[in-house]
Amino acid sequence: MAIKSGPVLSRAPSTDLSKMQTLNTIAALRDLLKGSRREGKRIALVPTMGNLHQGHIRLVETARREADIVVASIFVNPLQFGANEDLDSYPRTLAADQEKLTAAGCDILFAPGVSEVYPEGQDNQTLVEVPGLSDLHCGASRPGHFRGVTTVVCKLFNIVQPDVAIFGLKDYQQVAVIRKMVRDLCIPVEIVGVPTERAGSGLALSSRNGYLSEQELAIAPLLQQTLQQTANAVRNGNRDFATLEEQAQQALEAGGFKRDYFRILCRDTLQPPESGDVRPLVILAAARLGPARLIDNLEI
Ligand code: PAF
Repeated sequence: MAIKSGPVLSRAPSTDLSKMQTLNTIAALRDLLKGSRREGKRIALVPTMGNLHQGHIRLVETARREADIVVASIFVNPLQFGANEDLDSYPRTLAADQEKLTAAGCDILFAPGVSEVYPEGQDNQTLVEVPGLSDLHCGASRPGHFRGVTTVVCKLFNIVQPDVAIFGLKDYQQVAVIRKMVRDLCIPVEIVGVPTERAGSGLALSSRNGYLSEQELAIAPLLQQTLQQTANAVRNGNRDFATLEEQAQQALEAGGFKRDYFRILCRDTLQPPESGDVRPLVILAAARLGPARLIDNLEI
């Protein structure tokens, strides 16, 4: 099926995987994947919410190297948005996304509607929750967010049954939460994290950058610069993490951001290091700039 004139939603998929197919039902997707699975093909899943940029394309390219069949999903998951968040305004650009996925070598796009994923309604959905980790950092600023993420990702894993799933490391905590879910629930899928794709300015690519004005876009790289400065201070032996975190928050505020959080943490637990701790560190940060909440991170 050629993707030439806008979104095409197929109900009776062909078994020909030489062209990308777009499917919107679980039954059609399972049917299509049956043959590949029987032939022992390795299947990769790239879960997304669409409005694809170069960061997502890197995920698809990684999937292409990792597996025989690449499935991408586009689903703006209402369960992971808070009441006052941007669910309604989140950009939906299916036709452009289909073109990008086709060019990147994706085999199947799964683009279900809300009633396909939550047929009994969101309030009647069995939930998947990773305790502890889901309540920290982004989870503290966005209560219930990670429960929405783990619920939909668990469903996608059950629908697609991929051998490997690819996620961007810009959402560092999300990847940690999903890894724990997979371990705790014994889900047989390998999780691969892909380094963050950046603009020349250092700004991490994100669909939410589209909310920024030209002036805000010029300010936004300060988030990554502040992460770099803090990391350099730690590398130079400064272990006064509380002061470094506060200085970083003040630098961001002086630049025009509103503070959310800025934390130096152990990579393995995403908890603050203890004194004398020699475990590898990561800095996680989130800050508001105009209408957007931006996140970024840096492994030290
Ligand atoms: O990272 C995202 O785009 C979303 O959180 C995900 C993993 C697709 C789940 O909706």
